[in-house]
Amino acid sequence: MINVAVIGVGAFGRNHARVYHQLQQQGEEIRMVGVVDADVARADAVAKEYGTRAFGSVEQLLTTHSEVQAASVAVPTREHLKTARRLLRSGVDVLIEKPLAASLAEADELIGLCQEHGRIAQVGHLERFNPAVRATAPLVTLPMFFEVHRLSIFTPRSLDVDVVLDLMIHDLDVVLSFVRSPVKEIRAVGLPILSGKVDIANVRMEFDSGCVANFTASRVSTERVRKLRFFQPQQYISVDYGRQDVLVFAV
Ligand SMILES: NC(=O)c1ccc[n+]([C@@H]2O[C@H](COP(=O)([O-])OP(=O)(O)OC[C@H]3O[C@@H](n4cnc5c(N)ncnc54)[C@H](O)[C@@H]3O)[C@@H](O)[C@H]2O)c1
Repeated sequence: MINVAVIGVGAFGRNHARVYHQLQQQGEEIRMVGVVDADVARADAVAKEYGTRAFGSVEQLLTTHSEVQAASVAVPTREHLKTARRLLRSGVDVLIEKPLAASLAEADELIGLCQEHGRIAQVGHLERFNPAVRATAPLVTLPMFFEVHRLSIFTPRSLDVDVVLDLMIHDLDVVLSFVRSPVKEIRAVGLPILSGKVDIANVRMEFDSGCVANFTASRVSTERVRKLRFFQPQQYISVDYGRQDVLVFAV
């Protein structure tokens, strides 16, 4: 039996609570011992919905339930390191929502903490598990050109990080896993539009293999688009993350 908890049950964290609850209902070897949120009314509401206990802080959770073995961390990104550090030091493995951290230095510290305490930290790069991405991975041969768009309508969420860490991070993760060649050059442009941070960005990444990937991400669009298209010898492949489908054309 694995004792789990969810830290941060806002818009996204409540999905973690819902899924742990479902797994429990399906008889999996899992027990959700509690949910934590700085907004206690929110923690209470989610705990009530999924039949578990509510806590206002990680400290309270760990004091009451020292048996917690794994936790989802779905607090805002600027709080990831602080929250995960507290859990890792108490021997708890963590599933941290993307982006892993707000900076490279913070990500390095997290890796160091895992090594020091012999714990697991996994990042919630959910697009890796999108059926369209999973179906595409075995088709990849020698990709030479990517065109990637991830556009969303503005919401006042995740504004503690720029659009590269908020949205483009998914596509960077997927393309790097498909290309498997060192990055040679990165050129980028980004602009703040509605928040104080970059809200729209374009990145041109060139790889040692000669492959070029062109990424566009926006959180101030009037439409929702999540598409990745690429060319490789004799093939053009188009992935729609939203529709979860893949089109393969012989060229
Ligand atoms: N994998 C994905 O596709 C995906 C999608 C959306 C969001 N996310 C990530 O999930 C995380 C949360 O995003 P969100 O949209 O749910 O944010 P949100 O603001 O809706 O929720 C965050 C919650 O954390 C609580 N909180 C803040 N500081 C806390 C602390 N120190 N301790 C306990 N609770 C605290 C807030 O009260 C709030 O309820 C972000 O890192 C975001 O990037 C991932």
